[in-house]
Amino acid sequence: MDFAKVLKEFPVLKTDRILLRKLRLEDAPALKKYYSNENVYRYLDWNGPETLERSFEIINLWNKGYDEGWIIRFAIADKETDEIIGTIFLNEFEGKRAEIGYELSENYWRRGIMTEAISEVLSFGFNQLGLVRIQAFVCSENVASTEILKKFEFKEEGCLRQFECHSVTGECKDMWVYSLLNTEFQK
Ligand SMILES: CC(C)(COP(=O)(O)OP(=O)(O)OC[C@H]1O[C@@H](n2cnc3c(N)ncnc32)[C@H](O)[C@@H]1OP(=O)(O)O)[C@@H](O)C(=O)NCCC(=O)NCCS
Repeated sequence: MDFAKVLKEFPVLKTDRILLRKLRLEDAPALKKYYSNENVYRYLDWNGPETLERSFEIINLWNKGYDEGWIIRFAIADKETDEIIGTIFLNEFEGKRAEIGYELSENYWRRGIMTEAISEVLSFGFNQLGLVRIQAFVCSENVASTEILKKFEFKEEGCLRQFECHSVTGECKDMWVYSLLNTEFQK
């Protein structure tokens, strides 16, 4: 996706309680801290940045990915403090489709924060980037993520066997594919 063609600059999206904004190097300590909780990375394909240096590197990588057009990864920041409490992203752009992914500090779970973030990013993806399909890949044990996608009326399309292999343990997992079309999205 050539972001420069459709966006003037990296967007800032606002909801009642959060800001979705570009990641900054100052976010590195908080990013590393909330990721150091196994509950946050249990169902992901990596364990998060294990050192502060890696946290700086990964922020630089994601921001470079925006310049190169393969990912737009937003910091989810508390609107009052501007502190990063999670991230949400669109990547794997191909034609008019993209994949969505997200994670949130456990301190903020079950308060509807990710519902606000996903709603904004779906609206942004469909209305500003012109996507027609947004897909997600979730392992079956990840009940929270499965339920939140169903809440947005993502449709389950099937199982990709042994699809995602963990970058540290090498363990491969079956992943379920979910998708939502722009015509099905209601904000
Ligand atoms: C998945 C995750 C982002 C949910 O964030 P959240 O802000 O707690 O979600 P919300 O509060 O907006 O919940 C929205 C809905 O999701 C479902 N849900 C969220 N957490 C759930 C849980 N632990 N168990 C069952 N359903 C859950 C519920 O349907 C909920 O609606 P309700 O509160 O009205 O019942 C969070 O649990 C997380 O960061 N998990 C670790 C990272 C991860 O797995 N990312 C996804 C990889 S595919």
